[in-house]
Amino acid sequence: MLKRLFASFIIILFCVPSYAGAPDSVYLFAYSSLKNGGRNGLHFAWSRDGHEWNSIGNEFAYVRSDYGRWGSQKRMISPVLFQGADGIWHCVWALNEEVNQFAHAASADLINWGRQTYPYLPEGTRFADPDIAYDQKGKSYAIMFTNKTDQQNAVTTKDFKSFTAVSATAKTTGWVQKKTVAVRGNNESGTVHKVAWSVIEQLIRTYQTQQYRIILEGEDAKKDSLRFATLKPLEVSVQLQPSAGKPISSMLTGVFFEDINYAADGGLYAELIQNRDFEYALTDKESRDKNWNETHSWSLTGNDISWKVDSINPIHPNNAHYALLETKVTGGMLVNSGFDGVAVKAGETYRFSVSLKAIDPNAKSVTVLLLGKEGKTLAQTTINGAGSNWKKFNVSLIASATDGEARLALQPREAGILAIDMVSLFPAKTFKGRVNGLRADLAQKVAEIRPRFVRFPGGCVAHGDGIGNIYHWKNTIGPLEARKPQRNLWGYHQTAGLGYFEYFQFCEDIGAEPVPVVAAGVPCQNSGVGGGGQQGGIPMAEMDQYVQDVIDLIEYANGDIKTVWGRRRAESGHPAPFNLKYIGIGNEDLITDVFEERYLMICKAVKAKYPEIVVIGTVGPFFEGTDYREGWAIADREKIEMVDEHYYQTPGWFINNQDFYDSYDRSKSKVYLGEYASRGTTLFNALSEALYLTGVERNADIVTMASYAPLLAKEGHTQWNPDLIYFNNTEIKPTISYEVQKIYGVHAGDVYIPATVSVSTNDEAVRKRIGLSVVRDSKSGDIVVKLVNMLPVATTLKIDLGQIIGASTDATKIVLKGKPGDRQILPEQAVVKLQADGRLNLDAYSFTVLRFKGR
Ligand code: AHR
Repeated sequence: MLKRLFASFIIILFCVPSYAGAPDSVYLFAYSSLKNGGRNGLHFAWSRDGHEWNSIGNEFAYVRSDYGRWGSQKRMISPVLFQGADGIWHCVWALNEEVNQFAHAASADLINWGRQTYPYLPEGTRFADPDIAYDQKGKSYAIMFTNKTDQQNAVTTKDFKSFTAVSATAKTTGWVQKKTVAVRGNNESGTVHKVAWSVIEQLIRTYQTQQYRIILEGEDAKKDSLRFATLKPLEVSVQLQPSAGKPISSMLTGVFFEDINYAADGGLYAELIQNRDFEYALTDKESRDKNWNETHSWSLTGNDISWKVDSINPIHPNNAHYALLETKVTGGMLVNSGFDGVAVKAGETYRFSVSLKAIDPNAKSVTVLLLGKEGKTLAQTTINGAGSNWKKFNVSLIASATDGEARLALQPREAGILAIDMVSLFPAKTFKGRVNGLRADLAQKVAEIRPRFVRFPGGCVAHGDGIGNIYHWKNTIGPLEARKPQRNLWGYHQTAGLGYFEYFQFCEDIGAEPVPVVAAGVPCQNSGVGGGGQQGGIPMAEMDQYVQDVIDLIEYANGDIKTVWGRRRAESGHPAPFNLKYIGIGNEDLITDVFEERYLMICKAVKAKYPEIVVIGTVGPFFEGTDYREGWAIADREKIEMVDEHYYQTPGWFINNQDFYDSYDRSKSKVYLGEYASRGTTLFNALSEALYLTGVERNADIVTMASYAPLLAKEGHTQWNPDLIYFNNTEIKPTISYEVQKIYGVHAGDVYIPATVSVSTNDEAVRKRIGLSVVRDSKSGDIVVKLVNMLPVATTLKIDLGQIIGASTDATKIVLKGKPGDRQILPEQAVVKLQADGRLNLDAYSFTVLRFKGR
């Protein structure tokens, strides 16, 4: 649709200016500005005479640096552009003032750029003010740069992959050499090239396309009164083609779970004690918060009591810290404030556990109290018998009142020193009553989507901030005190209490396929730790072990209990296999050589050992661009079975890209749309998703799975918006997008019935606001018709259902409707009688679903 609309738009509005007597060749100027810390990418200007310069696209970025963290990095400093003898353009730039790396990218047309590489120079080398020269004889490029000492140094290369050692060089001839020219009134430093006029034309067109897309993607409800000022109620007639029905995926709707926004600890994981293991660390927040340390969430009340955190003879080496509580005169307490309080309900049972060690032989017992917000005791019990070794105690507490902000207190009953660790409180009623389980109401809300799969543990959490932060599944199984907590890259702490065993069990409990995603041997491309993200791939010497860990994961999920990892699963209480069928390798990674080498090692090893497991590869963070193209190129070449696409876009993008998958080549990899969302939580956002999903369902022969992202967000702890379900300790607040997901999950089908839709107007702006999808669920025989009307007027729909529903005209009708800016709407559901050839009224701004009983 975008392509079709674009063609006509370009002709009408944005014709490339035709310059009288356009020259055969002109000058092209390539530069980056210092604005925004040098993060605005590579710009172009052109000139007939080399004196008067015309900006192309007002500093439009034709390529941006992708090195390092958003905000502080992604800088392109002093780019130098050079066209090789083969016509390929090479751009080399400096990254920052600290690292001993530089950047390179190449392009055939200056528009589509290939992978970026960030080659290393010897430790301590600085790379500034680069220049390039080509040695025709040796067929090699020399890259000259200024070193720390202001020495001119150079490396040479034939392929921009391997480089000679750094050598001193004098600035002689043959270099591109920077020029300073005035563009838009500013003096800019860059490189000047002679190019054909057609090169400039293409650059201008690219900019214009971008501008047009910005207009389309900005389509929102605010201007609807203007856009549709003269629009009268519409007639839409639908001709179904049941004989042309095609099989589609029955797995389409699933969920994406990431520990972001306190989705795990303090969220889905039902543990009520924050920092139960005294392992919070300054590094969790990169030392930005001095209060975020081992004592976080804990405080003392009373006199003659003190405490500190110690690490001598801990309960487990992975859990190095514990509390040493010293009581001189009894009465004082060590108090935990939970995650924004400990929420308890009157009459409910809570399972408390703690590990204690008596440092003084007489410090043997503690009173455990649940204290209400105002200090009232809501429950209390006593633990006796601490000895000279760590010992775990389990007791139950029943809350006498409901309190959303209670606290848990430990009150020593004797004077002396007591070591305390793994202080834990769970509601007895976890989801399905699991020990170390999930918050029942939240898990239930997720289950109600009827997700066919759950992707976990991320997102960026899966590939981590630097290689030291990669999520290793083996650190998250077994006894809680033996798990390895770590920094959550979203800026808090991960206990790993919700670990791989719990993820698998949750999937089983809700009848969803587990879809674990492991890092492709590289961390997040936006890593701020360990240099420029992807360049910090796991060292090759350690890759065999990493690959083995991935293989072991499959054995952990599916292996017989006689296998090493199958036995570990059985020891956790699940002798039967979890029946894992999918594994994701990589998460929207920057597609570099470092990535590809490791990614393919893992993919190939998995397929060699477990050919039945579907490997899901990755194609970058966007629906287009270098990583998308390069990721798909690897998938095509290596025949990766499925790839994971991600995009967070405006409602306008979703409206104008309903046909995104219509032209996908059916012989290529299947698609898992692993992360998507329309940016916002209004009805208009949700409708744009519902509309887009009618297109996804139409293409569910190729798009086999899709998951909105992120899933959960705790109020007050949200790093990412929008999310599907917001919550606090006592309430759950699903968005309207959640209702859309639920409708698609509950009313899924496995056969798509094509239809011809005729609208009583030829206006494309109107037509594209109507969406329809008809599916059959083979199990029940039911037919589901999904209809989206994103117009401000009601629409009468004439649909000839006779061929598929026969005489049966009773239907369950579900409607989501309201004002486009509404944020809280629940679907209305009713049983309605319809004529087989009947008319149906679709409200303005509505999503309507009709479910007919199968014949
Ligand atoms: O869903 C939030 C984040 O978006 C994910 O962690 C990442 O994969 C994507 O960039």
